[in-house]
Amino acid sequence: MGHRYRRSFSIFLFVSMILASTLASAAGSIKKGSAIYKRECAECHTMKDGTNKKGPSIFRLIGRKAGTIANYDYSSAIKDSGIVWSTEKLDLYIKNPNKVVPGGKMKYEGLSSAKSREDLIAYLLFFSE
Ligand code: HEC
Repeated sequence: MGHRYRRSFSIFLFVSMILASTLASAAGSIKKGSAIYKRECAECHTMKDGTNKKGPSIFRLIGRKAGTIANYDYSSAIKDSGIVWSTEKLDLYIKNPNKVVPGGKMKYEGLSSAKSREDLIAYLLFFSE
Protein backbone atom coordinates (compact mmCIF):
# COMPACT_ATOMS: atom_id res chain seq x y z
CA MET A 1 0.00 0.00 0.00
CA GLY A 2 2.74 2.43 1.04
CA HIS A 3 4.72 1.65 -2.07
CA ARG A 4 1.80 2.14 -4.44
CA TYR A 5 0.92 5.40 -2.77
CA ARG A 6 4.46 6.74 -3.17
CA ARG A 7 4.48 5.77 -6.80
CA SER A 8 1.25 7.56 -7.68
CA PHE A 9 2.41 10.52 -5.64
CA SER A 10 5.59 10.83 -7.67
CA ILE A 11 3.55 10.61 -10.87
CA PHE A 12 1.37 13.37 -9.49
CA LEU A 13 4.46 15.49 -8.74
CA PHE A 14 5.84 14.88 -12.20
CA VAL A 15 2.61 15.93 -13.91
CA SER A 16 2.33 19.01 -11.68
CA MET A 17 5.85 20.06 -12.57
CA ILE A 18 5.10 19.79 -16.27
CA LEU A 19 1.88 21.75 -15.83
CA ALA A 20 3.60 24.44 -13.79
CA SER A 21 6.39 24.92 -16.31
CA THR A 22 3.91 25.01 -19.19
CA LEU A 23 1.86 27.66 -17.42
CA ALA A 24 4.97 29.68 -16.60
CA SER A 25 6.11 29.69 -20.22
CA ALA A 26 2.60 30.44 -21.49
CA ALA A 27 2.55 33.49 -19.25
CA GLY A 28 5.85 34.82 -20.62
CA SER A 29 8.61 36.47 -18.61
CA ILE A 30 7.71 39.74 -16.88
CA LYS A 31 11.37 40.55 -16.39
CA LYS A 32 12.22 40.13 -20.08
CA GLY A 33 9.03 41.96 -20.95
CA SER A 34 10.13 44.94 -18.88
CA ALA A 35 13.34 45.24 -20.91
CA ILE A 36 11.39 44.93 -24.18
CA TYR A 37 8.96 47.60 -23.01
CA LYS A 38 11.83 49.99 -22.26
CA ARG A 39 13.44 49.34 -25.61
CA GLU A 40 10.33 49.32 -27.83
CA CYS A 41 7.58 51.35 -26.14
CA ALA A 42 8.89 53.71 -23.44
CA GLU A 43 9.88 56.36 -25.97
CA CYS A 44 6.16 57.04 -26.51
CA HIS A 45 4.33 55.47 -23.54
CA THR A 46 4.43 55.43 -19.74
CA MET A 47 3.09 52.92 -17.23
CA LYS A 48 1.98 55.79 -15.02
CA ASP A 49 -1.69 56.54 -14.62
CA GLY A 50 -2.55 59.84 -16.34
CA THR A 51 0.91 60.51 -17.82
CA ASN A 52 0.98 60.53 -21.63
CA LYS A 53 3.89 61.07 -24.01
CA LYS A 54 3.56 60.80 -27.80
CA GLY A 55 1.16 57.96 -27.02
CA PRO A 56 -1.30 57.49 -24.14
CA SER A 57 -0.44 55.91 -20.78
CA ILE A 58 -0.75 52.13 -21.09
CA PHE A 59 -1.08 51.47 -17.37
CA ARG A 60 -4.03 49.10 -16.66
CA LEU A 61 -4.46 48.38 -20.33
CA ILE A 62 -5.93 44.87 -20.43
CA GLY A 63 -9.72 44.98 -20.27
CA ARG A 64 -9.92 48.66 -21.21
CA LYS A 65 -11.76 49.96 -24.26
CA ALA A 66 -9.35 51.37 -26.89
CA GLY A 67 -9.05 55.13 -27.18
CA THR A 68 -10.52 56.03 -23.80
CA ILE A 69 -7.77 57.82 -21.82
CA ALA A 70 -9.54 61.13 -21.13
CA ASN A 71 -6.61 63.55 -21.46
CA TYR A 72 -5.13 62.06 -24.66
CA ASP A 73 -5.90 63.13 -28.24
CA TYR A 74 -6.44 59.86 -30.13
CA SER A 75 -6.97 59.28 -33.86
CA SER A 76 -10.63 58.75 -34.72
CA ALA A 77 -9.53 55.39 -36.20
CA ILE A 78 -8.69 53.98 -32.78
CA LYS A 79 -11.61 55.67 -31.02
CA ASP A 80 -14.04 54.11 -33.50
CA SER A 81 -12.30 50.71 -33.60
CA GLY A 82 -14.57 49.07 -31.02
CA ILE A 83 -11.53 47.25 -29.62
CA VAL A 84 -11.39 46.15 -26.00
CA TRP A 85 -7.76 45.34 -25.17
CA SER A 86 -7.41 41.61 -24.52
CA THR A 87 -4.05 39.84 -24.60
CA GLU A 88 -4.98 38.45 -28.05
CA LYS A 89 -5.91 41.85 -29.53
CA LEU A 90 -2.81 43.41 -28.07
CA ASP A 91 -0.64 40.70 -29.58
CA LEU A 92 -2.07 41.46 -33.03
CA TYR A 93 -1.74 45.22 -32.55
CA ILE A 94 1.89 45.09 -31.39
CA LYS A 95 2.70 42.76 -34.26
CA ASN A 96 1.25 45.14 -36.84
CA PRO A 97 -0.46 48.31 -35.54
CA ASN A 98 -1.54 49.52 -38.97
CA LYS A 99 -3.29 46.30 -39.84
CA VAL A 100 -5.36 46.24 -36.65
CA VAL A 101 -6.10 49.98 -36.61
CA PRO A 102 -5.79 51.28 -40.20
CA GLY A 103 -5.37 55.06 -40.14
CA GLY A 104 -4.28 55.05 -36.48
CA LYS A 105 -1.43 57.29 -35.40
CA MET A 106 0.89 54.86 -33.62
CA LYS A 107 4.03 55.16 -35.73
CA TYR A 108 5.53 51.81 -34.80
CA GLU A 109 6.64 49.22 -37.33
CA GLY A 110 5.65 46.23 -35.18
CA LEU A 111 7.43 43.61 -33.08
CA SER A 112 7.83 40.49 -35.21
CA SER A 113 9.11 38.04 -32.55
CA ALA A 114 6.18 36.11 -31.02
CA LYS A 115 8.29 35.31 -27.95
CA SER A 116 9.11 38.99 -27.37
CA ARG A 117 5.43 39.89 -27.70
CA GLU A 118 4.54 37.17 -25.20
CA ASP A 119 7.04 38.53 -22.65
CA LEU A 120 5.94 42.11 -23.27
CA ILE A 121 2.28 41.17 -22.78
CA ALA A 122 3.15 39.35 -19.52
CA TYR A 123 4.68 42.63 -18.34
CA LEU A 124 1.67 44.73 -19.43
CA LEU A 125 -0.71 42.22 -17.86
CA PHE A 126 1.18 42.52 -14.58
CA PHE A 127 0.40 46.27 -14.58
CA SER A 128 -3.23 45.70 -15.48
CA GLU A 129 -4.29 43.97 -12.27
C1 HEC B 1 6.72 56.25 -31.89
C2 HEC B 1 5.80 56.26 -30.79
C3 HEC B 1 5.19 54.94 -30.33
C4 HEC B 1 5.82 53.75 -30.04
C5 HEC B 1 7.29 53.40 -30.19
C6 HEC B 1 4.79 52.87 -29.53
N1 HEC B 1 3.57 53.50 -29.52
FE1 HEC B 1 1.81 52.73 -28.85
N2 HEC B 1 0.84 54.42 -29.42
C7 HEC B 1 1.44 55.55 -29.96
C8 HEC B 1 0.44 56.51 -30.33
C9 HEC B 1 0.68 57.88 -30.97
C10 HEC B 1 -0.82 55.93 -30.00
C11 HEC B 1 -2.22 56.50 -30.23
C12 HEC B 1 -2.80 55.79 -31.45
C13 HEC B 1 -4.01 56.47 -32.08
O1 HEC B 1 -4.54 57.45 -31.53
O2 HEC B 1 -4.41 55.97 -33.15
C14 HEC B 1 -0.53 54.64 -29.41
C15 HEC B 1 -1.47 53.74 -28.92
C16 HEC B 1 -1.21 52.56 -28.30
C17 HEC B 1 -2.19 51.70 -27.69
C18 HEC B 1 -3.68 51.98 -27.57
C19 HEC B 1 -3.94 52.58 -26.18
C20 HEC B 1 -5.38 52.91 -25.87
O3 HEC B 1 -5.59 53.69 -24.91
O4 HEC B 1 -6.30 52.41 -26.54
C21 HEC B 1 -1.54 50.63 -27.19
C22 HEC B 1 -2.13 49.44 -26.48
C23 HEC B 1 -0.13 50.81 -27.49
N3 HEC B 1 0.03 51.99 -28.16
C24 HEC B 1 0.86 49.94 -27.13
C25 HEC B 1 2.20 50.08 -27.49
C26 HEC B 1 3.22 49.13 -27.14
C27 HEC B 1 3.00 47.89 -26.28
C28 HEC B 1 4.39 49.57 -27.70
C29 HEC B 1 5.74 48.90 -27.68
C30 HEC B 1 5.80 47.60 -28.34
C31 HEC B 1 4.08 50.80 -28.40
N4 HEC B 1 2.75 51.08 -28.24
C32 HEC B 1 5.02 51.57 -29.09
C33 HEC B 1 2.80 55.73 -30.13
C34 HEC B 1 3.77 54.77 -30.00
